[in-house]
Amino acid sequence: MAYLPAENRYDDMLYNRCGRSGLMLPAISLGLWHNFGEDKSAATAREICRTAFDLGVTHFDLANNYGPPPGSAETLFGEILRNDFHDLRDELVISTKAGYRMWPGPYGEWGSRKYLLSSLDQSLKRMGLDYVDIFYSHRFDPNTPLEETMLALDSAVRQGKALYVGLSSYNSQRTREAVAILRELGTPCIIHQPSYSMLNRWVEDDKLLDTLDEAGMGSIVFSPLAQGMLTTKYLGGIPQDSRAAQNHFLKKDFIRPQIIDNIRKLNEIAERRGQTLAQMAIAWVLRGDRVTSALIGASRSSQIVDCVKALDNLEFTAAELKEIDVYAREADINLWAKSAERE
Ligand SMILES: NC(=O)c1ccc[n+]([C@@H]2O[C@H](COP(=O)([O-])OP(=O)(O)OC[C@H]3O[C@@H](n4cnc5c(N)ncnc54)[C@H](OP(=O)(O)O)[C@@H]3O)[C@@H](O)[C@H]2O)c1
Repeated sequence: MAYLPAENRYDDMLYNRCGRSGLMLPAISLGLWHNFGEDKSAATAREICRTAFDLGVTHFDLANNYGPPPGSAETLFGEILRNDFHDLRDELVISTKAGYRMWPGPYGEWGSRKYLLSSLDQSLKRMGLDYVDIFYSHRFDPNTPLEETMLALDSAVRQGKALYVGLSSYNSQRTREAVAILRELGTPCIIHQPSYSMLNRWVEDDKLLDTLDEAGMGSIVFSPLAQGMLTTKYLGGIPQDSRAAQNHFLKKDFIRPQIIDNIRKLNEIAERRGQTLAQMAIAWVLRGDRVTSALIGASRSSQIVDCVKALDNLEFTAAELKEIDVYAREADINLWAKSAERE
């Protein structure tokens, strides 16, 4: 059946300015890393996107390698754009990235001009788009001059294939270096995409949000639910249809009794606040207006409905924050610790 977007779709969503740019992003954005590959139902994926948009989620985040297989999430999203969102392009903010392994050989990953610009062309083709709103360098490349990577981002904008550019998982120091180059080029680098959640605090240790404030950049934080761990789904074991059951990006090993005990305590705090744990985890990254958008994933549309309700209560008392810190730090498994992409 033809999709008619909800007329009230802009009524309840909160839109935050992305750094010192003209672009507003929804406080909650949807990422297509999981659940949009050939291993999952295309009908469910379509339903997830429709539900998100009906709730004011205007921003959809992709990358060249999302699938499996790599590229298939962009292909499926291209179909959804054609079938459901065809006359809505100007209401959408679509991002993609390049940095991880996409094709064989020496030109299929990292940060060379050759890789980044051909990857962007491939992404546009898969999605059937003339341009993306944001094109990211997905990870810092220690072996390519930063000037080359940044110049490639600049070229993407000058060629009209991206409106803005962003950096993902660069640490504070690399971000400052990249921003200095881009500023000289006049490139609109408006956003950084780091991981951040109650269980993953590298952003705080690295003072990345201060760096972004100084640079006038916004932030969209990925995996605010720690890939689903900051929900109630693992309190009674590992459900068959959960991400941890796949034991790939979220390892079964993370679902340990000591961690689950602390997550149960966090859930008790959420219940006292009148929220689900997922809602509290999202509200927590958005607290204090430092983060522009929480970038969630979803395997079914009911999860989006649940997550968006986080916006009903974004305030925390000092006592709540202190209590959350105790249990979250005890459960901190450093999911993304010391990964090379943050060098
Ligand atoms: N830049 C980068 O390097 C990078 C890396 C990773 C991710 N990302 C981006 O960030 C996006 C989000 O990452 P993520 O999927 O790890 O985020 P996340 O929001 O932390 O985890 C999403 C998972 O949590 C579960 N979930 C979501 N809402 C729920 C709810 N209300 N109740 C119960 N469970 C719920 C679902 O797990 P089940 O599938 O088990 O149901 C869902 O797949 C990605 O799609 C991608 O766009 C970027």
